[in-house]
This record gives sequence, structure tokens and C-alpha cells, in this order.
Amino acid sequence: MEVIIQADYDAVSRVAADLVEELVRKKPDCVLGLATGGTPVGLYQELIRRHQEEKLSFSKVTSFNLDEYYGLTPDHPQSYHYFMNEELFDHINIPKKNRHVPDGMAKNVEKWCKSYENKIKRAGGIDLQVLGIGGDGHIAFNEPGSSLVSRTRMKTLTEETIRDNKRFFNKNETVPIHAITMGVGTIMDAKHCIMIATGEKKAKIVAAALEGPVTSQVTASVLQMHPKTTVIIDEAAAKKLKNHKYYRWCYDRKPTG
Ligand code: F6R
Repeated sequence: MEVIIQADYDAVSRVAADLVEELVRKKPDCVLGLATGGTPVGLYQELIRRHQEEKLSFSKVTSFNLDEYYGLTPDHPQSYHYFMNEELFDHINIPKKNRHVPDGMAKNVEKWCKSYENKIKRAGGIDLQVLGIGGDGHIAFNEPGSSLVSRTRMKTLTEETIRDNKRFFNKNETVPIHAITMGVGTIMDAKHCIMIATGEKKAKIVAAALEGPVTSQVTASVLQMHPKTTVIIDEAAAKKLKNHKYYRWCYDRKPTG
């Protein structure tokens, strides 16, 4: 696991965008795994800028999103379909047929989840998976106690996640309590994972995930067992890391080639 500590949110977004750009230029038909939430917005803005100003093309890219609230239609302003259109898809050129976001209205959820897994497999697997981390340590919506080999399925959200995500909903709206989410095992199959986190609020859980035991109680901790994960965080989110000096030392002396 490589840990990259940057000064602030913008720098984190730029470094994450560099990794996405590097892959897209090297492998134009790559498969990206995408996340929603507040954290990746800066990364998406940077990708949009590079698309518009620097001819970064996504015309052959395929994408799979991590999760979607169960019970929200794609046109619901708080759905992750809507978020992805607003924050990324409407501004870059990933072909519509290549974009995949879990169906929050799926009737036969088990069957639908299996077909999502098959689509990922048929696409050749995820080359680069973008991840955030929840306050309770979740990646995607793999809440504490999720099996570390789980596949795409329906999950019940924790009270903490529901509380955290309330900020995206209007006062009179209720946050859905279920979501369809890629499993921990699905994420672990990605060839490269990048996890981004910023702000002091994330410092404690980032330390637990990176330097604590690997446990289903903090599903992000399983990334310690992933063969290629890059964690990109700002100073505030790095505050509680015991080995922060070593991570900086390594990054400054990164071997080239
Ligand atoms: C979103 C997702 C979640 C978020 C996490 C952090 O698709 O899978 O795991 O990455 O809840 O959310 P923010 O970035 O809003 O703090």
C-alpha cells in the first residue's frame, strides 16, 4: 500500500486525477470503478478540466459505479445516477452504453447483482477503482461486519452512514436505509485501488483502516491485503497516522521506472 500525503483537497484531487489520466492515456479502453460522495467531486472536476482543456478522451472507457440507494429512481436528485450525470458523465465522453451504475429500482435484486458481477467480468475486470471511506470505515456501502469476500448485493446502512449522508438530502426527505453495493471481494478484484480521504473528520478512521488490524469492522482495512492500493489523503486526514513521516519519506524518494 502506498500512502501519499498532500497539502489539501485540491492537491489530493490532482494526484488522483494524474493516476486516472495515466491509465486512460496508456489503456484508452480501460475499465474504471467510480465512487460518489463529497470526496471525489474535486477529482471529477479535474478530469472534466483535462477533458475540456487537454484533450483527455474517455471515448473507449467503460465505468462501473460502486453503489446506489435502493428505492431511488435514476432521475431522483439524490440518486447516485443523478450525481454521476451532474458531476461527471454530462461533461466528459464516456459513451452512455459503457456507463454502469447499480439499479436502485431492481425488482429481483439477487439476479440483478449477479448480472452486475458478470458485466464487470465480461468487461475484463476493473483496472482502477476509485474509493472514498465512510466515517464507519466502509468502502462502497460495505458496512461494519460485511464479509471480506462479499460480492455485489443489498446492504442495510448503519445509523452513522444515514446521518452522514443526510447532508445531501432536503430536510423533509428521508435517507434510504438500503443500498445495492459492490462487495468487498468485488473491490479487491480491481487491479489497482485508489482511496481518497480529506479533512480532520476522517483522520481517526483513516488511521484505523491503514494502521489498525484487518477487520470486517472497518472494511477499508482489507485494502492492506490488496496487491496495489494507493491511498491519497490530505494533511488533516493524515493527522492520526503513526507512520506519516515514513510515508512522506517514501513518496519523496519514489523509485522511477
Ligand atoms: C460512495 C461510496 C461511499 C463513500 C463514503 C465517503 O459511492 O461508496 O463509500 O465513498 O461514504 O463519502 P464522502 O466522500 O461523502 O465522505
